[in-house]
Amino acid sequence: MLELRGVTSRYGPVTALDNVDLVAEEGRVTSVLGANGAGKTTLLRTVSGLHRADSGTIRFDGQDITKLSPDRMARAGLAHVPEGRGVITELTVRENLRLGALGRSTHREAVSLDEVVDLFPILGERSHALAHTLSGGERQMLVIARALLATPKMLLLDEPSLGLAPRISAQIFGVIRLLVEEHGLSVLLVEQNARSALSIADLGVVLGLGKVVACDSAEVLSGDENLRHAYLGY
Ligand SMILES: Nc1ncnc2c1ncn2[C@@H]1O[C@H](COP(=O)(O)OP(=O)(O)O)[C@@H](O)[C@H]1O
Ligand SMILES: [Mg+2]
Repeated sequence: MLELRGVTSRYGPVTALDNVDLVAEEGRVTSVLGANGAGKTTLLRTVSGLHRADSGTIRFDGQDITKLSPDRMARAGLAHVPEGRGVITELTVRENLRLGALGRSTHREAVSLDEVVDLFPILGERSHALAHTLSGGERQMLVIARALLATPKMLLLDEPSLGLAPRISAQIFGVIRLLVEEHGLSVLLVEQNARSALSIADLGVVLGLGKVVACDSAEVLSGDENLRHAYLGY
């Protein structure tokens, strides 16, 4: 469904992605793993059109999206949840959520606010709270819920578990898995926390200094002790 071929992305003299090939299949969680600086964020930014690839092609759902603008990517069904949990802090939870529906893609039946609140009940309880009063975990839930309201086919998630308590990360990962299993969503999940990410992923791609160093089922990757020690930090 998402396919990168020979994608290279640079920041001036820095090559952040070096000839990357990657396939993320429909209805699966594909996890992109690697140390800080490996190029994970650049990969998501390149896919969603926020950073222009210097070479290579990106195809999504049968369409060449290499040169599309970020808003056209969104309409094609890609929703990017960047690292950092950006919400509009002066607006309430509900108002932030309603913004998500503005970028709605048109090819799936619209997801309702009630449906996303069912996934993250705390957002319902806090719907009139200003977003700046939320905890880190609640903010992460809010940005994921907001992205879902755009009814994407594929969610691009950048480090959703960063800095969260294990219990909260587990809750968020549980919802991601549920969306894939029961709603047919496809997910490209970037994580430094390889152990947790592999526990919910079907497939994994390991980046080292911008290059793909391994690509296999989550089961095979988590069973590879040398790879774990060298690239995954556990
Ligand atoms: N805006 C930028 N300008 C220059 N270099 C950057 C920029 N963003 C990232 N880089 C560099 O690109 C490489 C990959 O970074 P990034 O994609 O953020 O990795 P990760 O998300 O895996 O930590 C790193 O060497 C980083 O320093
Ligand atoms: Mg990053």
